[in-house]
Amino acid sequence: MNRVDTLMARMTLPEKLGQLTMTASGYTVTGPVIAGDSTQSIIDGTLGNLLNMVGAGPVHEMQKLAVEQSRLGIPLLIGLDIIHGHRTLFPIPLAEAGLFDERLWERTAREAAREGAAEGLAMTFAPMLDVSRDPRWGRTAEGPGEDPWLNGRIAAAKVRGFQGTDLSAADAMAACAKHFVAYGCVNAGREYAEVDISERSLHEVHLPGFAAAIRAGVATLMPAFHDLNGVPMTAHIPLMRDWLRGKMGFDGVIVSDYNAIAELIKHGVAADLTDAAVLALKAGVDIDMMSDAYRKGLPVALEQGRVTIEEIDASVRRVLLLKERLGLFDDPYRRGAKAEDAEIISQRRALSREVAAKALVLLTNKPATGRDTLPLPAATQRLAVIGPLADAATEMKGPWWGAGEHEPAVSVLAGLREALPGATVHHAAGVAIDGADEGGLAAAVALCDGVDAVVLCLGERATMSGEAASRATPTLPGRQQALADAVIARARALGIPVIAILFSGRPLVVPELAERADALLAAWFLGREAGHAIADVLTGRVSPSGRTPMSWPRATGQIPVFFGQRPTGRPIHAADYYTSKYQDVDNTPLFAFGHGLTYGRMRYGALQVEPQRLHAQGELQVSVTLHNDGVHEAEETAFLFVRRKVSRVTRPLLELKGYGKLRLAPGESGVLTLRLAADELRWLDEDLQPVFETGEVEVCVGPSAEVTGLQRQTIELS
Ligand code: BGC
Repeated sequence: MNRVDTLMARMTLPEKLGQLTMTASGYTVTGPVIAGDSTQSIIDGTLGNLLNMVGAGPVHEMQKLAVEQSRLGIPLLIGLDIIHGHRTLFPIPLAEAGLFDERLWERTAREAAREGAAEGLAMTFAPMLDVSRDPRWGRTAEGPGEDPWLNGRIAAAKVRGFQGTDLSAADAMAACAKHFVAYGCVNAGREYAEVDISERSLHEVHLPGFAAAIRAGVATLMPAFHDLNGVPMTAHIPLMRDWLRGKMGFDGVIVSDYNAIAELIKHGVAADLTDAAVLALKAGVDIDMMSDAYRKGLPVALEQGRVTIEEIDASVRRVLLLKERLGLFDDPYRRGAKAEDAEIISQRRALSREVAAKALVLLTNKPATGRDTLPLPAATQRLAVIGPLADAATEMKGPWWGAGEHEPAVSVLAGLREALPGATVHHAAGVAIDGADEGGLAAAVALCDGVDAVVLCLGERATMSGEAASRATPTLPGRQQALADAVIARARALGIPVIAILFSGRPLVVPELAERADALLAAWFLGREAGHAIADVLTGRVSPSGRTPMSWPRATGQIPVFFGQRPTGRPIHAADYYTSKYQDVDNTPLFAFGHGLTYGRMRYGALQVEPQRLHAQGELQVSVTLHNDGVHEAEETAFLFVRRKVSRVTRPLLELKGYGKLRLAPGESGVLTLRLAADELRWLDEDLQPVFETGEVEVCVGPSAEVTGLQRQTIELS
């Protein structure tokens, strides 16, 4: 008998249910304050998993109780949410999505895992793979943005990063693909609300990211809180038992979301905790996080014959196998055995700065006094840094910074002062992030006099996005629009440029600001090194390359606005009344998916696509020549989209299938070549089965999903 079978043969029912239970420990700066009875449960062998522990000392202390004092000595599985860095904070996931860089997606997860594992942690509840096309939803900040193909690439890179090549290595952590599935579609963007979507969009948009994570070997998965088409995900047999375990062959551990099993009662599908436990177990949930439904309900259900011991055992076996794969039985203290040295931590900060600068999206950069507004001219001597987010070091960390370093992140003001040591940098907040007070406005506007440029830092508080942070009106909060109007009017009168930097966990609806500012940047929340990274880009030390992974609406009423929409029988036509359009706003987004300027000026040459006729086993080679006609070096990201012209089911107007990058010096040209396997051109037919359908496909390449900027060529699938 192997170790797991031997153990299982010796386990009592309470010990088995302990392995299916995860409990939180509150923690403080100095150590954990674990709920009184949890400590005893660990010793009793009736609690096998913990979340929210921080620090190698406390983690080992708890592990010691399990290993040395419990009857069977089964080590604990200890997990924590590491959403964008553990101690060293990286940009939020939405910002990172805009890197379009598999190597960096993987690296930040790898570094986060090293840092977490160095503190004894073996599991993290990340990555979040919920495609979101609704910026009202606060958790948009934690995810990949609007596109399913992009989501799949991020999913695989993050799993590789967290888990490494060997799950038992001292620096590897089990990843958790969450929240399964379509959580990003909560009704009207309202957190925890129901989701009612078609089978087709489920399969085309929301499942592929999870499929990619499973193919990459993700060790665990978490169902979402919501009700999907009438069945709460925690009890969803067709998707969890049939699709996940059955079709995808996922044999890892499924851990419920926080208290989600008990919430089946409020959803109205379970009468009591026992009922809830039965539903979740039958759907395939192995670990009950925080409901205590399994420990309380399953003994009753077993006695009533509503679950079998075999069903319980299957889950226990999966949990023990995960602990074995993580190497916990062989060396429960391997993780956290060695503190990291200062050199590694400082390299990680450098990585955070690099990634943050690359994640910054230059949305507009208008000509001012005969040149582009950015980068700032070398002669810049006097700056006014205005706005409630200019000197907001804590906000820079973004939502859910968990165990992130307690020292504040670098503010824009601090970053610019350090980058421009000889310059005079004035600062005023003007108004608060939120609230109606305009008392500080005049003094802020007065700072415009006598400076070379104004940097206006606006946006959301970090806690305005993330879990339970939906916003019905995702615009500039409080009196910030009034501040922007007044500062821009004064700067205009003085003939000086205004560079607006937006902080947010979502695209914001800011048409006036985009129109009136001389340059506009989406900084999302960039983490520990935010201010340095922003200064790097503003001063031109780094040429920006970030792209938006979500379309930016012109108006809240346009939501959801995304590039993968399907055609209509009456496409927009200005002169034809009965076509698909609004009376009061354009159909297009303010900024399209993939938009992001560089300091170069990229010209796309003609598209070369080979072969012109593609068979099912073939591969497409797509090349485009890029010329940098600008005066600065730049890295361009070019996107590859396809459009099926005629098909038995309607296809989206554009489907993302790839991207590539090319760095070009001023005046330089280069050829970017992208490859696409014909296999990626399979679509789901009327019965949701993949088919390789012969016929015409348009291949499109360009700097974003904005249709007028795309080079197109039609090929034949045969
Ligand atoms: C969130 C999850 C998270 C869990 C544990 C829940 O509220 O929805 O994303 O992993 O808490 O912290």
